[in-house]
Amino acid sequence: MNHKGDMPIADTVRLNSGFEMPVVAFGTWQIPRSIAAERVREALEAGYRHIDCALSFKNQPEIGAGIQEWCKIRKVRREELFLSSKIWNTFHSRAKCMEQVDMMLEDFNTRYMDLVVIHWPFGWAEDEPGERGMWPRGNDGKFRKSEIDFLETWTALEDIHRTGKIRAIGLANFSLEQVDRIYTKGLIKPCVLQVEMNPYFSQIPMRKYCKERGIILVAHMVTGNPSSAFYRKHEDPNLLHNETICSIGRLCGKTTTQILLRWVIDSGHCAIIKSVEPKRIRQNLNIFKFYLIPEYMERIDALNMNFRILNPILGNEDHPYYPWPYRPVKTEAE
Ligand SMILES: NC(=O)c1ccc[n+]([C@@H]2O[C@H](COP(=O)([O-])OP(=O)(O)OC[C@H]3O[C@@H](n4cnc5c(N)ncnc54)[C@H](OP(=O)(O)O)[C@@H]3O)[C@@H](O)[C@H]2O)c1
Repeated sequence: MNHKGDMPIADTVRLNSGFEMPVVAFGTWQIPRSIAAERVREALEAGYRHIDCALSFKNQPEIGAGIQEWCKIRKVRREELFLSSKIWNTFHSRAKCMEQVDMMLEDFNTRYMDLVVIHWPFGWAEDEPGERGMWPRGNDGKFRKSEIDFLETWTALEDIHRTGKIRAIGLANFSLEQVDRIYTKGLIKPCVLQVEMNPYFSQIPMRKYCKERGIILVAHMVTGNPSSAFYRKHEDPNLLHNETICSIGRLCGKTTTQILLRWVIDSGHCAIIKSVEPKRIRQNLNIFKFYLIPEYMERIDALNMNFRILNPILGNEDHPYYPWPYRPVKTEAE
């Protein structure tokens, strides 16, 4: 682990673009706007340097303001940070993709982003103005599709990358076949793939695929986001109460979340973790002075049930670029 003064700084990994990326990122989804600036300052103070953002998280300008303010006070240079954001579903056309990158540069008041990923492989209609236009629902409540091929979005990102406005480009929530399509047809190889990964959904084929091709897999939903009703059902299993992980935590003198994060890193991948609680923000980054012995890794590996939480169906399931089979909901008649 690195230190700057008395602040811990996460280990880094080299991307295939040549730049270093801290292996643990601070996640910003579901941080309310009203506290976003303060919480990101808390995270930076705790030592996070990789901040994961998105237009759809609805707090990016506030996160950007918090980062700028903290850097000014603490005299931290832009180069010491790793700022990442995502191309939203209503920005998949070449022109809109370019527009969205300029919007993020403005939110962070920066000349370049360290990483930009395509948030989802499927695009939605781009014809509604304003913030409502980001969620373009038809009268049936389903999202209105656009059929823009994600290769068009990728090509736009490649071109922006060449201008220097983005240092690394990647993907999020793509299926293995979709990642492979970009890998084989794109001119620039993806640096990063962000996907759900935790012991209940351990993503073995995707991890193998990425490792063999030098794509860094970044896990989101490492705790399975247990307190969120978004995508989760009440009866879904909760990793934070899993006895195997809790008992390993007790043996290591670590929290369950620290064990989950360590499991991702000791598996050779990177992780994003979000918290709004200052104590948890600090604790979650304090994972660089221990590692999980092979016996603990094996016990956690054995928990896999291919159980996916993040599955935004809502009329997307018949989208030509929807990445996965959806979780069928059983009716009483079945
Ligand atoms: N690319 C994508 O499509 C995508 C999708 C999902 C997420 N992400 C990124 O990944 C980040 C993390 O994903 P996520 O927020 O869904 O899942 P997560 O980090 O697994 O879960 C966050 C939840 O865990 C709780 N938590 C965090 N630390 C804890 C601790 N030490 N003890 C107990 N509970 C703890 C948080 O509660 P408190 O806040 O109350 O502490 C929060 O409710 C997001 O914020 C976002 O930046 C990206």
